[in-house]
Amino acid sequence: METSSVSNKAVFAFYLALCLVIHLVHSTVTYDRKAILINGQRRILFSGSIHYPRSTPDMWEDLIQKAKQGGIDVIETYVFWNVHEPSSPGNYNFEGRYDLVRFMKIIQKAGLYAHLRIGPYVCAEWNFGGFPVWLKYVPGISFRTDNEPFKRAMQGFTEKIVGMMKSEGLFESQGGPIILSQIENEYGAQSKLLGEAGRNYVNWAAKMAIEMGTGVPWVMCKEEDAPDPLINTCNGFYCDKFTPNRPYKPTIWTEAWSGWFTEFGGPIHQRPVQDLAFAVARFIIRGGSFVNYYMYHGGTNFGRTAGGPFVTTSYDYDAPLDEYGLIRQPKYGHLKELHKAIKMCERALVSTDPIVTSLGASQQAHVYSTESGDCAAFLSNYDSKSSVRIMFNNMHYTLPPWSVSILPDCRNVVFNTAKVGVQTSQMQMLPTSTHMFSWESFDEDPSSLDDSGSTITALALLDQLNVTRESSHYLWYMTSIDIGSSESFLHGGELPTLIVRSTGHAVHVFINGQLSGFEYGTREYRRITYTGKVNLRAGINKIALLSVAIGLPNVGEHYESWSTGILGPVSLHGHGLDKGNWDLSWQKWTYQVGLKGEAMNLASPNGFSAGQWMQSAIVVQRNQPLTWHKTFFDAPEGDEPLALDMAGMGKGQIWINGQSIGRYWTKYANGNCSFCNYAGSFKPPKCQFGCGEPTQRWYHVPRSWLKPSQNLLVIFEELGGDPSRISLVKRSVSSVCADMSEVHPNIKNWHIESFGKSEEFHPPKVHLHCNPGQTISNIKFASFGTPLGTCGNYEQGSCHSPSSYAILEKKCIGKPRCTVTVTNSNFGQDPCPKVMKRLSVEAVCSPTATNWRG
Ligand SMILES: *[C@@H]1O[C@H](CO)[C@@H](O)[C@H](O)[C@H]1NC(C)=O
Ligand SMILES: *[C@@H]1O[C@H](CO)[C@@H](O)[C@H](O)[C@H]1NC(C)=O
Repeated sequence: METSSVSNKAVFAFYLALCLVIHLVHSTVTYDRKAILINGQRRILFSGSIHYPRSTPDMWEDLIQKAKQGGIDVIETYVFWNVHEPSSPGNYNFEGRYDLVRFMKIIQKAGLYAHLRIGPYVCAEWNFGGFPVWLKYVPGISFRTDNEPFKRAMQGFTEKIVGMMKSEGLFESQGGPIILSQIENEYGAQSKLLGEAGRNYVNWAAKMAIEMGTGVPWVMCKEEDAPDPLINTCNGFYCDKFTPNRPYKPTIWTEAWSGWFTEFGGPIHQRPVQDLAFAVARFIIRGGSFVNYYMYHGGTNFGRTAGGPFVTTSYDYDAPLDEYGLIRQPKYGHLKELHKAIKMCERALVSTDPIVTSLGASQQAHVYSTESGDCAAFLSNYDSKSSVRIMFNNMHYTLPPWSVSILPDCRNVVFNTAKVGVQTSQMQMLPTSTHMFSWESFDEDPSSLDDSGSTITALALLDQLNVTRESSHYLWYMTSIDIGSSESFLHGGELPTLIVRSTGHAVHVFINGQLSGFEYGTREYRRITYTGKVNLRAGINKIALLSVAIGLPNVGEHYESWSTGILGPVSLHGHGLDKGNWDLSWQKWTYQVGLKGEAMNLASPNGFSAGQWMQSAIVVQRNQPLTWHKTFFDAPEGDEPLALDMAGMGKGQIWINGQSIGRYWTKYANGNCSFCNYAGSFKPPKCQFGCGEPTQRWYHVPRSWLKPSQNLLVIFEELGGDPSRISLVKRSVSSVCADMSEVHPNIKNWHIESFGKSEEFHPPKVHLHCNPGQTISNIKFASFGTPLGTCGNYEQGSCHSPSSYAILEKKCIGKPRCTVTVTNSNFGQDPCPKVMKRLSVEAVCSPTATNWRG
């Protein structure tokens, strides 16, 4: 029986090998109370939101590689229904920026995982929350509730997306990158409001998702009733108080907000990286195992994709990668260091629960210690004011305010969330070779609006969206009034006042072809009232109101039923009217969807020649509103990201070679830009920037939309403005800063005592490096001593080493990168003995000079 036993063993080995192979191909994603398990391994995962339509396909690989370099394991994206099925059911678009499969395959190629948040409701400051406008007009529909027409449509789209992913083998269960999927989005509040119908809908959505058989877990975010086996997850600035609804589900943070969106007229919101890192560390030590940064790259709301209404075209979000895809320092680098430090603790974190001890009134230690000898400790100081010196394992540690120190061996601090060691970059918009444009203009001329050519007439004011179905931003509301020659205002009496009430978002008022006024709302107050004296004449007067949509709402209770446009009343008031106040709401109104220039396709390379273009100077002198401007330009050399500087213009839209860059609006930011301190709970109003400047001045021009020469740039301007002030600029690093404290002599001595002379002591260093193609051309600031301020506005303090500049200049100028040791000896004589000193540097980066002799 010896032989048989051998062959049994061989068979067993063969099957074992086969199982392993099968396991590798059909690996599984599961979860338990500690973490997501991939191939049976619990993982701490860092994820970053990059929304594919908010950049161009040629940027995707670079963004994803930068995310990977930044310590990101997973790329998260929503799926945007209204770009894929925009105009009618069944007419799909997965081309270009909407090529979801290509995006997933780039993630896979980079060796990263994906989290696919199908929704299909996405919020996301995206037009209509991601729903196609036609969906609103499906008979009997009610969004996001227990409603058959809605559920049918939602299931149809979800099946379409899951089917595509499956047929491309993109779920992890098939060997692909997708490890998680999301159904619905932030439904909790709505569910509570709707009661029974909300509950039924949540249960239906969960069942529908599970039945798709993706082989990977589904999540619902901000939905504490998420039915099993779905995982409910947290979104917010902090999620360390969050616990999932069942003890056997992992703690997942689907949106760790890295910043905040902006709206036209508001300031820029930034979130200090020290606070973001603190929030992430707090979440991890409380048992969190999956963190997704919303956003990791925010990008651009091209075309008419911005929601709100009033959300800006830039969706920069103060993310680690800026709108243009460039690394934002110190945010990117500091988070990268955080990820590295936490990954050093991964084994201990996923294997055990922490022992928590108090170290003081607002200080704690979380120690993860395993039987196999792993030990990771996290020392936290929740005090937002003071730094604290604490004892832990018989050693002293200093904890800055509002910070966590990470000790992957329970002894050495490798990272503190409040101590930013990486450099800060200052970005700048620089002129390009294409700085002068030669403009021609086309007058939209509202006086030539012709009632007879219009499509719709009604004895009422109609909802804008119902008429335009989002085929244009613009809808003309036109009516006529007959003024008798005996009206007293025509004979020195008081001029009548026109009052126009609109549900938003902006309105231009024309009387007999002349602009009479402009009014607009805000994200909070969409309803607007235009009030203005009007100049009417005896006989027929034409009143033309141009109603403008500035992004459809993306959030709010049954926001799909909110109206847009001029619903009235529209009326004339004043003592100079013989018959008293005059309600125009119920007289005959004629509607025209869109602009003449839109109908002529003026923004497109095939259509622009139809316009009767004139030298711009003539049109601009007339200060005519509603004007099209066009020019041709050659692409600037180089590969820096490009933008248009629109500060000299009013409000409108921009197209390059027929592709829409988005809405522009030079609206000045109203806010409170007082000092921003990283410590203490963050809310967007806390850290505002750009007050008194245009909320958005620069508009991203994707390089891939340009050809080498003869690019068509078309602008539609609603208000006026001077196109000769428009310029094409490039974005690059202008200077880099670094700050580093010297090490206290006691620590140095302790180090040498503890580790002996053989263990070399490494004094702190500052590292400065410019972008590729740049070198350090100038030291704008250098001070070893007690400098004050932050990058961009450093000042010398009371202590300053006179050799600071000379040392930095010697080591850095002419080089792409340099390193300077922060020690007394490096700066000659000690400028202030017994004082803890630091080195602060700002170095200017310039394009590397070309060697012409070569
Ligand atoms: C849209 O307009 C049509 C025709 O005027 C009207 O019958 C319908 O009720 C409107 N629908 C909505 C949702 O306003
Ligand atoms: C601006 O913000 C600061 C700090 O939050 C506050 O003290 C101050 O009162 C605010 N000023 C105004 C005008 O709101």
